[in-house]
Amino acid sequence: MVIAVDGPAAAGKGTLARRLAADLGLPYLDTGLLYRATGRRVLDAGADPRDVVAAEAAARALAPSDVTRPDLRGPEADMAASAVAAIPAVRAALLEWQREFGRAHGAVLDGRDIGTVVFPKAPLKLFVTASAEQRAHRRWLELRGRGVTADLQAVLSELRARDAQDAGRAVAPLKPAADALTLDTTELDAEAAFQVARRLVAERL
Ligand code: C5P
Repeated sequence: MVIAVDGPAAAGKGTLARRLAADLGLPYLDTGLLYRATGRRVLDAGADPRDVVAAEAAARALAPSDVTRPDLRGPEADMAASAVAAIPAVRAALLEWQREFGRAHGAVLDGRDIGTVVFPKAPLKLFVTASAEQRAHRRWLELRGRGVTADLQAVLSELRARDAQDAGRAVAPLKPAADALTLDTTELDAEAAFQVARRLVAERL
């Protein structure tokens, strides 16, 4: 069984997908980490994350240790991930790996294109979203919790820029699959969102 959880940045996908996976006894994959680690490798090599050749090489060279690096979060890593993610050869390099992960034992995967491209036949697809202001506020709180002082307006513009880049790209853009169920978490905390998702799982699967 594969459950696809897609949506824009900081909508609560990761928290929800991780809890659903634990509840159902399924493995969980945060696919954003693959793009983040690829972007980070390109930056390490001193290249531009929009450089097609450097980005494809980085995606193909990805090792398990890359996705556990402590420097995969923050504005620079966010935008590098989004830049490499717009490159078709990078997506192609990461696609089979994600499919194998899901096929092995079933899984909950979160990302942008799980329901549209990676597992278009997944029996349950959630599109998790929330207002941009609410998402920025959550991201800002998360940063503060990690001791990072950020400006709320700057966080909001970065989220908007990244969503626009992710939704506007030609390959695997951020968008709900035709058969996805939208879960708007603007007014829901993590627990309430989980309860709604669990009900959908029980009804659908
Ligand atoms: O989910 P997260 O914010 O960690 O993803 C970082 C970036 O990776 C996104 O902004 C997006 O550009 C890219 N991504 C993607 N497809 C996925 C997961 C992430 O394009 N399935």
